[in-house]
Amino acid sequence: MKIRLHLRMLAIAFALAFAGLASAQPLKDASGHAWWQHAVFYEVYPRSFADSNGDGLGDLNGITSKLDYLRKLGVEAIWITPCFPSPQVDFGYDVSDYVNIDPIYGTLADFDHLVSEAKKRDIRVILDFVVNHTSDQHPWFIDSKSSRTSAHRDWYIWRDGKGLGQPPNNWLSTFGLSAWKYDPTTQQYYYHYFYPEQPDLNWRNPAVKKAMFDVTRFWYKRGVAGFRLDAVDSLFEDPNLTDNPFLPGTDKFGRPNMQEKYNKKLPELHFALQRLRKVADEYGAVLIGETWTSQVRELEEYYGENGNELQLPMDLMLTNLPLSAQAFREHINAVDAARGWPTYVITNHDIRRSYSRYGDGIHDDDIAKLMAGLYLTLRGTPVIYYGEEIGMENNDPTSKEDVKDPIGILGWPREKGRDGERTPMQWNDGPNAGFTTGKPWLPIPPSAKTHNVGTESNDPHSVLSFYTQVLHLRKMEPALLEGVYVPVNQSDQNVISYLRKSSAGTILVVLNFSATEQNPTFDLTQQGFASAKVTGLLENAAAVPDGALKSIKLQPYGVFIGSITN
Ligand code: NOJ
Repeated sequence: MKIRLHLRMLAIAFALAFAGLASAQPLKDASGHAWWQHAVFYEVYPRSFADSNGDGLGDLNGITSKLDYLRKLGVEAIWITPCFPSPQVDFGYDVSDYVNIDPIYGTLADFDHLVSEAKKRDIRVILDFVVNHTSDQHPWFIDSKSSRTSAHRDWYIWRDGKGLGQPPNNWLSTFGLSAWKYDPTTQQYYYHYFYPEQPDLNWRNPAVKKAMFDVTRFWYKRGVAGFRLDAVDSLFEDPNLTDNPFLPGTDKFGRPNMQEKYNKKLPELHFALQRLRKVADEYGAVLIGETWTSQVRELEEYYGENGNELQLPMDLMLTNLPLSAQAFREHINAVDAARGWPTYVITNHDIRRSYSRYGDGIHDDDIAKLMAGLYLTLRGTPVIYYGEEIGMENNDPTSKEDVKDPIGILGWPREKGRDGERTPMQWNDGPNAGFTTGKPWLPIPPSAKTHNVGTESNDPHSVLSFYTQVLHLRKMEPALLEGVYVPVNQSDQNVISYLRKSSAGTILVVLNFSATEQNPTFDLTQQGFASAKVTGLLENAAAVPDGALKSIKLQPYGVFIGSITN
């Protein structure tokens, strides 16, 4: 196996690591692209990233202490999942105060410090905005619940039951219970798409909208560069509360399957997104969406008809594909051809890690590099989930008693919850993987001994070294940022190949999605290269001599990236 790092890349890597400290953060680059089109995003789950005070939970100062690592890796924006005051029923996705920091993570001063230190390293900070619901401990809900005539009553969705002990309709919470909870004080039910401790806000109420827009302003003024919007597809519900149709079969909680026709993806949500975008535009901010879609056409809708909704709706469909060249090619072709700038993710804090999803037990590291070779070289913005760059794997609980995520407790054993993909970042091979000096809130996976930042930084063949090199290549080669995506050799069942073509040059990416050696041949005449010559830029388990491009030899899951000239 050979990874080639050219001298030119080393020079650029060096320049990137040391240049630009404390420089202003421009909104557009020299070629007129918005900063978020070229930036590499990185998701930080703050509870699990770095613990600065030994309580076993990560915190903001911990994140600040790792900014140099992130910069060296090539990260330009971090999305921090909710760090606001919260009872932590859903580990922060139950917010009880949108304009403060939870003491477990630090203070507003720590946050300001993080933003200013990040800025010195040209890293922007994106927060997670839980738009659909608050915590049941939020003062808005406490007031709402206090009486039928309270000032905030209509900030949530309250309805009479259908009859004694009967909720208003058949809607189900995605977290395993009915979506309605009876409140004996006011003798009505409130609606919660997630846990009962997460009552849904009533986005039809103008006061709710105003309050939520003001929350975003508060953070923009503090230097936040944008938001990842949580659960946008459940913002609105049918006001008539029409029952959802049932579907055959049962879900992981054993309930009848249901088509969420009347409580998901209502057209009104697009007006709310347009309004949130208007406020974001006042500050040059970016909106990323947690956009669950089953078709590319649906994903397209989230950009807005005139590009006036989300700049970066995440392509979460990518996380559902089997490890197959055909499946990935077909999907990527469709996303690239669709309206808007693609946003690629291969996992997140709700989804099994890609290393565990795709690993075959033999080529696991090569498969992790294959995935990096793919989502970091496509036209679009990649979002890296922390730990993917070192090949972290899931560490799922083995008994119900160990589960922390409530859905894992409720749904055990069919649903084990999301603890497995949220384990502490593996910084070194020492105690607790260098994450904490205390007792980590989730157990450290055994793989931390081999897959950690310290060990992998010293190994030129590690997953981390490969990520770092691809990310530096991305910055160095304008074609990887700007170039159009041109798939080639499309009938190849095992190897995905594409060009990224721009006026500044052409890059060829070749990815072996199979466990066997492959030798694809290339004729790029139709793409304007009658006598194509190739210069290798980065390889893993692949070989081709520089010069006339004929075929490329790829070991199982090998990756080749080279520049093409005539
Ligand atoms: C999506 C978040 O990613 C997930 O972690 C959370 O539980 C739900 N939304 C509810 O906020």
